[in-house]
Amino acid sequence: MDKKNVALITGVTGQDGSYLAEFLLDKGYEVHGTIRRSSVDFRERIAHIEGKPNFHLHYADLGDSMSIMQVMSKVRPTEVYNLAAQSHVQVSFDSPEFTCDVDATGVLRILEAIRLCGLTKTCRMYQASTSELYGKVEEVPQNENTPFHPYSPYAVAKQYGFWIVKEYREAYDMFCCSGILFNHESERRGETFVTRKITLAAARIKQGKQEKLFLGNLGSLRDWGYAKDYVECMWLILQHKTPEDFVIATGVQHSVREFCYYAFKHVGIELEFVGEGLDEKGIDKATGKVLIEVSPDFFRPTDVVNLWGDPTKAKAELGWDPNKTSFEQLVKIMVDSDMAKVAAEDAGQRVRTNLAEYLEKGIVK
Ligand code: NAP
Ligand code: GDD
Repeated sequence: MDKKNVALITGVTGQDGSYLAEFLLDKGYEVHGTIRRSSVDFRERIAHIEGKPNFHLHYADLGDSMSIMQVMSKVRPTEVYNLAAQSHVQVSFDSPEFTCDVDATGVLRILEAIRLCGLTKTCRMYQASTSELYGKVEEVPQNENTPFHPYSPYAVAKQYGFWIVKEYREAYDMFCCSGILFNHESERRGETFVTRKITLAAARIKQGKQEKLFLGNLGSLRDWGYAKDYVECMWLILQHKTPEDFVIATGVQHSVREFCYYAFKHVGIELEFVGEGLDEKGIDKATGKVLIEVSPDFFRPTDVVNLWGDPTKAKAELGWDPNKTSFEQLVKIMVDSDMAKVAAEDAGQRVRTNLAEYLEKGIVK
């Protein structure tokens, strides 16, 4: 491999950043990641690669141009993957200004840093865009030509990110592209996203450590893939002969209710859903116990309810396989991992706060 492949990943401590760092290290890249100062030094997702000779960490914040300029000029990367973001849609309603600064202006700061460091011709840039741009959907399934209708402060900020990347591509002839990624999950998914909240609860309920799971819109539809498969596509987008935007999705759609059904089934609990709207309940068929209830706390002022991606272009032009991991396999991977994690709590290995309890009580959404 060319020794000159140097990647800079913003958001390396996140779900995708950690998988991408592993992927690029395996390909022989020199990998640099940005981290933020925090009062607790807790970098669970990258702990296993910290200390590897080709892996380096730098402090930088997407809200701070100077920190970005410093890291860009020091590292002089050949590929930048901008994965850092305030990535929680519901949180963006509570922190809209912060979300805008990081998810919109932050993208501009990265692009300008590449330009001002004189890397326009030598550095390619990937922007983590999102299916949330389709928002209040105008077409099903969604492809690269589907009109955008962002439907949350998060999505509106990401829409700016998408367009400023396109603008720099056209204005300065930069190789910068957006991957319009549909939801992708894993055993490393944050605990407040719906899939992980469900798999963790299924494990905790099965092991007698949680009574009930409270959720919002059970009818919401998503195209869920496996994060480990999706980071390969980010890399493929930057290896393509021309800078283009791509939809990354599985082409298969399921509801939140179905995700619950399969997750609980995998731990040996068959759920039956009865009732409608706020009165809907998920009941253990064998015992009649109510395990899932709907809470208004988890509804959003505007919710995106029908995401379904069409990955035809990525398949044809990048040779990417969107169905390497099936929906059932994804649920199994996540549930198995949480069953083991929850079991380990007995041995005093849970180093986190009691987040699961906070989730259950609705203190943290
Ligand atoms: P994630 O797990 O929430 O990770 C987000 C990363 O961004 C973390 O490393 C976080 O650092 C970092 N970050 C947050 N604010 C920052 C700031 N001001 N400056 C620097 N870093 C900051 O998200 P993910 O699921 O890996 O997603 C990666 C990217 O893809 C995000 O941009 C997300 O919006 C986008 N996306 C995700 C999906 C999906 O389904 N996962 C789909 C489409 C698009 P800390 O660890 O310090 O918080
Ligand atoms: N988080 C959460 N918690 N979502 C719930 C709950 C709950 O208790 N109950 C129902 N939902 C519904 C949400 O209303 C939404 O319609 C759906 O489940 C998925 O929610 P999340 O898992 O929070 O993900 P998201 O789709 O809003 O956002 C994720 O995917 C985007 C790509 O489409 C994030 O990863 C974004 O960063 C990403 O851009």
